[in-house]
Amino acid sequence: MNKEEILKAFHFRHACKEFDSNKKISNADFAFILETARLSPSSFGFEPWHFIVVQDTNLRELLKENAWGAPKKLDTASHFVLGLTMRAPLTKWDSDYIKNFMKDVQELPDEVIQGKGKFYEEFQKSDFDLNDDRKLFDWASKQNYIALGNMMTAAAMIGIDSCPIEGFKQKETETILRNHFDIDTEKYGLSYMVAFGYRIVEPRSKTRRALDEVVTWK
Ligand SMILES: Cc1cc2nc3c(=O)[nH]c(=O)nc-3n(C[C@H](O)[C@H](O)[C@H](O)COP(=O)(O)O)c2cc1C
Repeated sequence: MNKEEILKAFHFRHACKEFDSNKKISNADFAFILETARLSPSSFGFEPWHFIVVQDTNLRELLKENAWGAPKKLDTASHFVLGLTMRAPLTKWDSDYIKNFMKDVQELPDEVIQGKGKFYEEFQKSDFDLNDDRKLFDWASKQNYIALGNMMTAAAMIGIDSCPIEGFKQKETETILRNHFDIDTEKYGLSYMVAFGYRIVEPRSKTRRALDEVVTWK
């Protein structure tokens, strides 16, 4: 893709309010979108995320109750994703998840695990002051939003529409996840939802502040 085509995709992407429920994203295209989430960068590379693809209409129905920003999308999206983020029991510096991750996923030798673990501990305790569960969750959520951005941009690049959604009651929706989605909400929280599909109406053209208002060069 050249620069013009890439920017065209950025203009194409908009918060799509309603999708054409007759059009389904192919398995290959959706696998491509998920792959861009999987390959996203994260702090220390610890991938503090999990993505639930909700295709069951009964489960989608359950989500509506506490998600004022989502009903039309839940009804019409080809694919609907919940962006779960790991909580302190998994992301804290001394967790088993982190230890096992360095060994099993990153395949680091023991001495590197020691050093990296020490950096991660200092980073949480001091550099970024991530000393309570909420701070740790919000920090991990920030990383999950990179995966969100990548999925939406990748989708737009292949002509697929999307809508990011924070219009939901977090606590109440997490209760639904615990009771009906078999999610351990001690370990995972819900950061965002995102719907994918094909638009039913054309959006109005983009409005944004001018570049010199949002960028300062020194
Ligand atoms: C984190 C986040 C949460 C959002 N939540 C919702 C939502 O719940 N419902 C909705 O219709 N749009 C939602 N939006 C879409 C924004 O309103 C939209 O991106 C913004 O107005 C800019 O318009 P554009 O994306 O069409 O360019 C959300 C966007 C972001 C980034």
